[in-house]
Amino acid sequence: MRRATATRRFQLFDSLLGLFPPGKALDLGAGHGQFSLRAADAGWEVTAVDARDERFPEDERVRWIQQDVREADLDGYDLVFCLGLFYHLTIGDQLTLLRKASGTPLILDTHLASPRPTKPLSARVTAEGYQGRYYQEKAWESRPTASWKNEVSFWPNAPSFYRMLEEHGYSAVFAGSPWVTKDRTFFLCLPG
Ligand SMILES: C[S@@+](CC[C@H](N)C(=O)[O-])C[C@H]1O[C@@H](n2cnc3c(N)ncnc32)[C@H](O)[C@@H]1O
Repeated sequence: MRRATATRRFQLFDSLLGLFPPGKALDLGAGHGQFSLRAADAGWEVTAVDARDERFPEDERVRWIQQDVREADLDGYDLVFCLGLFYHLTIGDQLTLLRKASGTPLILDTHLASPRPTKPLSARVTAEGYQGRYYQEKAWESRPTASWKNEVSFWPNAPSFYRMLEEHGYSAVFAGSPWVTKDRTFFLCLPG
């Protein structure tokens, strides 16, 4: 990831996190764990989940769990992070994740399908009633930042993304501007 992209992602994350008093946070698809550590630095009690544990840092302030997020229990947290993960899931798993997170504030960082995507995507499709494009997960087995076990992920377009959130109880969604890239930013998703 380019340094400017990483810097902007940390800026947006820190700004959104700072809106909440520290409590219990769940970091889904935590990967390198840097967002979990920033939250721990800010006083949060963090549980970090990822299917791959090889990039987890050694830091005892965070509870590191090797687990498929599709099996994670999302109850009992004050805030859920879904950073760099949503666009690695199938539409079915995206909807299940939103259903399970429903009722808890969510910081969601994702690419969306746009007319000028930053990655090679399929032609426009409608999946489970939502419009978007498919992303082929190449060699996911050997790529630490890729999907876990699904060969194809779904990138909704912006109207479908907002509708997905609204239909799962996130009636107020705020997009961080300027965006991280032309098709990616952080969204603060608040339950109604
Ligand atoms: C692009 S990285 C994002 C890492 C970090 N959250 C960030 O935003 O920089 C995607 C992460 O999601 C994890 N991941 C993808 N699908 C997963 C799944 N079904 N269950 C658990 N982790 C998954 C990958 O292992 C990888 O660490």
